[in-house]
Amino acid sequence: MTTKQFDFGLVGLGVMGRNFILNVADHGFSALGLDTNEEQVQALLEEGDPAQVSATTDKKSFVAQLSSPRKIMLLVPAGKVVDLVIEDLLPLLEKGDIIIDGGNSFFTDTDRRSAYLEEKGIHFFGSGVSGGAKGARRGPSIMPGGSPAAYEAIQPIFEAVAAKVNGDPCVAYMGKKSAGNYVKMVHNGIEYGLMELISETYGILKNGLGKSNAEIQTNFAEWNSGRLQSFLIEISAEIFSKKDDLTEKDLIDMILDRAKQKGTGKWTSQNAMDLGIPVPNIDMAVSMRGLSAMKSTRIQAEALYGAKRSAHSQEISTEDLEAALYFSFIITYAQGMAQLAAADEEYDYGLDLASISKIWRGGCIIRAALLEDMRQAFRKSPQLENLLLDTEFVGKIKSTLGAARKVAAFCVLRGIPAAVLYTSLAYFDAFCSGSLHLNLVQAQRDHFGSHTYERTDKTGTFHTEW
Ligand code: 6PG
Repeated sequence: MTTKQFDFGLVGLGVMGRNFILNVADHGFSALGLDTNEEQVQALLEEGDPAQVSATTDKKSFVAQLSSPRKIMLLVPAGKVVDLVIEDLLPLLEKGDIIIDGGNSFFTDTDRRSAYLEEKGIHFFGSGVSGGAKGARRGPSIMPGGSPAAYEAIQPIFEAVAAKVNGDPCVAYMGKKSAGNYVKMVHNGIEYGLMELISETYGILKNGLGKSNAEIQTNFAEWNSGRLQSFLIEISAEIFSKKDDLTEKDLIDMILDRAKQKGTGKWTSQNAMDLGIPVPNIDMAVSMRGLSAMKSTRIQAEALYGAKRSAHSQEISTEDLEAALYFSFIITYAQGMAQLAAADEEYDYGLDLASISKIWRGGCIIRAALLEDMRQAFRKSPQLENLLLDTEFVGKIKSTLGAARKVAAFCVLRGIPAAVLYTSLAYFDAFCSGSLHLNLVQAQRDHFGSHTYERTDKTGTFHTEW
């Protein structure tokens, strides 16, 4: 008896895995799923077209039914589970087979797994997938990194299932080793920054301008049809029109202000620190999630200092807010891209920032109209050290800077939290100051620790007996 040979295998039939495999099957590839949970297997069998999709709990039968070289994608929780699944499959695989890790794995784990599997003749791909469950079903943005030769085997499937923008698939080979996971990590860092900025803007609209949820919904919806057009603004507008099933109040008012995190934003910040690349918007967005989690302490502090009264002043307009948000979005993307440029040098990935901007235009969480402008900037100057040095972006920043300052001042004077907006301005002001105050830091270091300093008029290092 000859069993059917499937083009693609997927391990982990949770919502993401099930949706991804159905997407693969929609595009004419036969796909086989594996999960230890019988219910997940049944769920896929019920949903999938039996001519294209099947599923099993038996790893031997799974591996035996995949065509060579086997292309096996893992959509399992990042961490130990990935290693366990690899160990489970390994004895059944043959040289030349390909394992693709589609989770948010830490990039050094991917490097370790790649080296380990390479010794055994197995290709390993760390491949970021963005777009959530809906994206997995209808077209995600995919960021694969690993051996370029092995990528050719998975390229047709990935290009078919990825989101499309003007017919271009939102997937491209990112680079060697853990390049795919690294790019996805920074994607998530930017995601943290943008989410916090939009949420701060909500806070300003509500507590600074006294807007109702319905008015905030209208603001976000309007902004989404202009230069701020993006997935995160779009879903924010949707959120403000959703009613709570239990109380029939606006659902947003029933959600606790305690944000959770799985760690990718923190990793971005940590690694940026290692590289010496400032990404303060991302750092601050991570810190704000931390602050939000301290709910009971915040309530205690509010009682000590008194709740802030919101002056419903009209000193800023919603147009100012839109411009301030646009300004801060650009600063957040600029920091993330600068981190990718530095990581490319440090880890020798071979990243192409224009290509990354291109595949982020659709499918992923940080997709936005701005990504097309970014793609053009990096295509014009592939070595661009920072997006803020591009002439088109200079124009965008100059035209929104005044509004950003006005909104920040408004928030400072009224005590409305807007940490990432302030941080955007702080970063920008330092970034474009040819002369900074850190000569004093150098003097202090030399004073207390003989750490030496450089001079403005001579090369070399100097020390003073202070
Ligand atoms: C994506 C997202 C996704 C991420 C969630 C939750 O691109 O689809 O980035 O990968 O896991 O957004 O992340 P946090 O729990 O850290 O907010």
